[in-house]
Amino acid sequence: MACSVNYGTLIACFFVISLSLGLVVLMPVLVALFASPSSPSFSVNLFHNQTLNLTRANGNSPTNFAIHFDLKLKNENKAIGLHYPDQINITFSYFPNVSTLAILADYKLDSFYQGNGKTKRVRDMVETNGFPTVLEGTNMIVFRVDLVGSFRYKKVGTKRHKVELGCLVGVDSTTSNKMQKGFIGMVKPGLDSKLKRKPPPDPP
Ligand SMILES: *[C@@H]1O[C@H](CO)[C@@H](O)[C@H](O)[C@H]1NC(C)=O
Ligand SMILES: *[C@@H]1O[C@H](CO)[C@@H](O)[C@H](O)[C@H]1NC(C)=O
Ligand SMILES: *[C@@H]1O[C@H](CO)[C@@H](O)[C@H](O)[C@H]1NC(C)=O
Ligand SMILES: *[C@@H]1O[C@H](CO)[C@@H](O)[C@H](O)[C@H]1NC(C)=O
Repeated sequence: MACSVNYGTLIACFFVISLSLGLVVLMPVLVALFASPSSPSFSVNLFHNQTLNLTRANGNSPTNFAIHFDLKLKNENKAIGLHYPDQINITFSYFPNVSTLAILADYKLDSFYQGNGKTKRVRDMVETNGFPTVLEGTNMIVFRVDLVGSFRYKKVGTKRHKVELGCLVGVDSTTSNKMQKGFIGMVKPGLDSKLKRKPPPDPP
């Protein structure tokens, strides 16, 4: 008969549906339990609370200036703590031309422990040992922030992982406006990390 209901099929269907729903719900939990933990993520907001005047970058005024920054270090793991066993080194530089990175200032962050899912916020400033110039042939000052450090999962027998990340922050030298507002995620360095680093200029 065409309209008879096959209860066996119905029950089978019901089981398949419940099983899939169960898996969908359980999957994130299973992934959290068995997947390898994630590296922390880092982002920085340069000049976050500062009124910038970088018009001097167009001319020659060898003055220093301060870089105010807001740095976020986030433990992306909900279920595991992180140790940062070594000092974290942060370097602020700019590109005078595409083949050179000139260092403006260094900043060190002491070793610390970070609980599950926590974010550490560092709002501070550095005095530079020179004034940046525009990227040759452009109207832009291209800053670079580099971070070198290490972390270890709070788990017995885990080793240290090295972190080497950076990001670019472009500023229009005429208007002193940043090209990108807010926090910029730091990523594995590309080509620019392999550039020759110019030693910082002598203080005036
Ligand atoms: C920025 O600084 C330059 C040189 O010191 C000055 O001439 C100019 O008026 C300043 N611009 C603003 C908007 O303050
Ligand atoms: C880039 O700038 C640096 C520092 O000002 C200079 O020593 C170097 O010769 C420049 N390189 C090129 C290719 O212009
Ligand atoms: C911006 O933040 C830095 C670092 O926290 C602080 O030293 C400075 O006073 C702040 N500047 C302003 C204008 O709030
Ligand atoms: C950070 O800098 C200090 C001193 O300049 C150095 O001893 C240390 O090895 C550096 N840390 C890393 C992770 O490169």
